[in-house]
Amino acid sequence: MPIISIRDLVVEYDGRRILDGLNLDIEHGETMVLLGGSGSGKSTLLRQILALERPKSGSVHVKGTDITRCSAAELKTLRRSIGVAFQSAALFNSLSVEDNVALTLREHTRLAPSIIDLVVWMKLAVVGLADFAKLHPQELSGGMKKRAAVARALALGPEILVLDEPSAGLDPIVAAELDELILLLKEAFQMTVIVVTHELPSAFRIADRIAMLYQGRFCSIGTRDEIKASQDPRVRQFLNRIPGNIAKAAAVAAYFEKYLHTPEAAA
Ligand SMILES: Nc1ncnc2c1ncn2[C@@H]1O[C@H](COP(=O)(O)OP(=O)(O)O)[C@@H](O)[C@H]1O
Ligand SMILES: [Mg+2]
Repeated sequence: MPIISIRDLVVEYDGRRILDGLNLDIEHGETMVLLGGSGSGKSTLLRQILALERPKSGSVHVKGTDITRCSAAELKTLRRSIGVAFQSAALFNSLSVEDNVALTLREHTRLAPSIIDLVVWMKLAVVGLADFAKLHPQELSGGMKKRAAVARALALGPEILVLDEPSAGLDPIVAAELDELILLLKEAFQMTVIVVTHELPSAFRIADRIAMLYQGRFCSIGTRDEIKASQDPRVRQFLNRIPGNIAKAAAVAAYFEKYLHTPEAAA
């Protein structure tokens, strides 16, 4: 059974359809990368997977429970199995890195403070921040902030990790380090990872499968190789990074090009 199963999911804001009947299964232990242009609904989909918003119609099953219809108590239990790091790392600036991670444990568990300290240390060690536990977010580099946010997402030992554009705004080397961390988490904890990104090298490094959103639907879902080989023009356009209007202009130019080579055009 897939750990997450999305069926006919429709989301509208003020009557404007953002997600138009999505279907997607995410298997246990799989890294699923969501690709799509800016405003294509990637974050909207993540909010649905976290049950932060109700859909207009359709269902989202997480570990067999439809989170669009379950009780608040069921939702609370399920949420503990999902760790989230949103687009803006959103760490508490007034708290040290270790307290940012500890806060989640203090809120959601009854662990003794000494155990919490130990768990926090382990989580920070996993993301390579054990030596920086006492620093505050503003003292960290961009990459370290993201890793701290990942440590916090890992606090409760989630089965599912959700990352919204983890490498946005990072330089390529730091972004690549984050990719390696994601791969390590999958290896070490058999975690199911859902990552929104529009960094193609990152997507192709970490993904088991890639799902590409286009105008509210998935235009392609497949393994890295399947996506790379896809002849779907929307996928090709995204992979070749040609903006739509430039692609159209090129098509028009190519069409008229042939008239340049007719006898009438010759001087
Ligand atoms: N709470 C909201 N209310 C109204 N419109 C929204 C809301 N959230 C997102 N949208 C709109 O939905 C579309 C998809 O947004 P989003 O999921 O953030 O895209 P992405 O993450 O792919 O860039 C955008 O057009 C955005 O303006
Ligand atoms: Mg987004």
